[in-house]
Amino acid sequence: MTQYRPAITRTTSAIETMLQHHSVRAFTNEPVPEDALQAILVSALSAATSSNQNSWSVVTVRDPERKKRLMESTGSNPFIAQAPVFFVWVADLSRAHRLAEAQGVDPVVLHYQEALLIATVDAALAAQNAVVAAESLGLGTCYVGGIRTQIDTVSELLNLPEYSYPVLGLSVGCPSPDDSAGVKPRLPLSAVAFDEQYDATAADAGIPVLERETSEYFASQGVAHHSWSEKSLIRWSSMRALRGRENNRGVIAARGLLDE
Ligand SMILES: Cc1cc2nc3c(=O)[nH]c(=O)nc-3n(C[C@H](O)[C@H](O)[C@H](O)COP(=O)(O)O)c2cc1C
Repeated sequence: MTQYRPAITRTTSAIETMLQHHSVRAFTNEPVPEDALQAILVSALSAATSSNQNSWSVVTVRDPERKKRLMESTGSNPFIAQAPVFFVWVADLSRAHRLAEAQGVDPVVLHYQEALLIATVDAALAAQNAVVAAESLGLGTCYVGGIRTQIDTVSELLNLPEYSYPVLGLSVGCPSPDDSAGVKPRLPLSAVAFDEQYDATAADAGIPVLERETSEYFASQGVAHHSWSEKSLIRWSSMRALRGRENNRGVIAARGLLDE
């Protein structure tokens, strides 16, 4: 019996889709139908966008060779080659720069961290709309943050312009019968959602609940598992976990973003 997720008494099909979310890392080779792909992309297009700036783009990759090269650039995500579709969500200020240049305007604001954040958040919101749309169509998805391990290589493979960078990858396809992953626990709602003011005691009190439920989850999957804290602390204290992404400030600045 899960303790982290309180029962809800009101629901919709959209809510049910979100409550069933789990990342899928094993796919059949069935293609994603064109109309499904279109529905996913149009759903992404409908996400809110900061100040109505539309500061994102997405590249759909289906070519096996390009998917393979993207997979190699991310490290250890073999499912990228297996899934029929790999989306790369891009923080994209290049359109804004081109428009400003054509109009003879100096877009000074676009060089600051705030513009980078706006574009990054926009790309993530669009991606999450795509996830919900894909899952509602019975497809499986898995994000790939590893796309930021070799930003320059990915940008070259996808012909991304200056003033843009790849924020997230997303594999999409039909879940393989081998995909046995279930709904993974989260921190309890009481540890992340507060009334009126933040409560650090409640925030931290959720950790033992997550520890216990995560251990139970992995035991049910037959997977050996270190405690959630132990695993997280290793990740937070080992530079190896960054896989070179510690240099991304400079890499992104060299692409014309965050250079103020
Ligand atoms: C921004 C982001 C980046 C992620 N990057 C990867 C990745 O590179 N490889 C991977 O296998 N999973 C990746 N994931 C999936 C997470 O590991 C997964 O969401 C998390 O373990 C929770 O599991 P669930 O999605 O099944 O609930 C990523 C998820 C997010 C939100």
